[in-house]
Amino acid sequence: MKKVITYGTYDCLHYGHIRLLERAKALGDYLIVGVTSDAYDKERGKINGTQSVLERVEAVRKTGLADLIIIEEYEGQKIDDIIKYGVDIFTVGSDWVGKFDYLNDYCKVVYLDRTVGVSSTDIRSESKSIRIGIVGESTLTSKFRNECRYVNGVTVSGLCYEDVLEDKITAKEFDFVTSDYNELLDRSDAIYVVSHPKTRYSHTKLALLAGKHVICQSPISENVTEIEELFRIADEEGLVLMDSIKTAYSLAYQRLILLMKTGNIGDIVSVDATCTSILKYDLSDVNVLRKRWGSYNAWGPTALLPVLQLLGNNPCDFNIVSKIGNEELNFDIFTKIDFTYSNAVASIKVGNGVKSEGELIISGTKGYAYIPAPWWKTEYFEIRYEDTREVKKFYFKIDGEGIRYEIVAFIDLISSVSNLLYVSRDISRDFVKYSELINKKMFKKI
Ligand code: CTP
Repeated sequence: MKKVITYGTYDCLHYGHIRLLERAKALGDYLIVGVTSDAYDKERGKINGTQSVLERVEAVRKTGLADLIIIEEYEGQKIDDIIKYGVDIFTVGSDWVGKFDYLNDYCKVVYLDRTVGVSSTDIRSESKSIRIGIVGESTLTSKFRNECRYVNGVTVSGLCYEDVLEDKITAKEFDFVTSDYNELLDRSDAIYVVSHPKTRYSHTKLALLAGKHVICQSPISENVTEIEELFRIADEEGLVLMDSIKTAYSLAYQRLILLMKTGNIGDIVSVDATCTSILKYDLSDVNVLRKRWGSYNAWGPTALLPVLQLLGNNPCDFNIVSKIGNEELNFDIFTKIDFTYSNAVASIKVGNGVKSEGELIISGTKGYAYIPAPWWKTEYFEIRYEDTREVKKFYFKIDGEGIRYEIVAFIDLISSVSNLLYVSRDISRDFVKYSELINKKMFKKI
């Protein structure tokens, strides 16, 4: 019996897939179809699937062409499968010509002509095309715009900003630029708010009232009353309002949190997170500085994320200490918050104007997790034990610092593909709560 094997994502199964499976089957007597798992697709940068692996397997099954369906979960699995199942022929479409020649060492490799004019990518783009407008100017503006290119069905409708900072050329990258926010709202289905923390509330509110979904840089507002109001409006209007905080959407970070929750280091006793950057501006230049974000606004939510996700948002006590670089603007160049929980402690150190080692350490009763700098966009971390032979090392690829995944999460929420909110509302509210305390100068000054 001649065995044939082929692999694919098979998202939104289409005519091209069916033709390929028919021809693959005709090459032999027994067809094995490998369907890529969601995690493997994500790892290899194919993050735009709309259907889960179960739905995709079911679609392949319904064609009646596969004698066996398997899940492809890791790089190199094709070699294992070919040996394991005694495969005679490996085949894929001609879009892969040359890529799988290395399998010739194990079986015959056949590239079949790809059907012209149809692809999952096209089908996905037709089914949902969401125009995202960007308001605000920061280093994230360009990054977000670039990352939208990797997400199917998303177009960037333009940029709105109040004035151009001297060192930024972001505006030139956009086809449409305006200083009139209403103009941006008119041509968008959704808005990415990355403006100064002081204007995020009004930008978000106006967008929601205009019926637009919002993804807003954390912290979403300057005080808790405002964020509560924004959540209420979003719910009343049936709109998505979510935090933009790229770390929350990156695979390595998500896996780390799950590993911590499943007891890999025993009971968690301490979470210590540091995020810092150097400020290139003169602290006495009020006009320039008022457009920048202080250390809490720049880094606080990111550093708080693992604390709140692992220990919850009910500390018995906390203590904020800040170093203010400019009194007039209450611009903190460094902030440290220490938390005491009933059975654990945590501390965050954030700086925008003070530099330190940007690592995350989670200590437990059996071991600890070490996430090296810059931990907020790391692809690598270790779970360490006293016996060094037991150390576990983890690597997860991150594309686009996680921004790509947060855009996908946003689109999935808008199109109801998923209702998974990576950052819960309790956590969004807490990001704002600590910001409000700092705004009100309720910290110890050093
Ligand atoms: N295929 C094909 N003709 C098409 C589309 C896909 O022969 N028009 C083949 C691919 O070459 C591959 C298999 O079908 O062998 C599964 O492809 P997959 O990557 O799942 O589908 P695409 O439509 O190419 O998906 P995407 O647009 O997401 O890349």
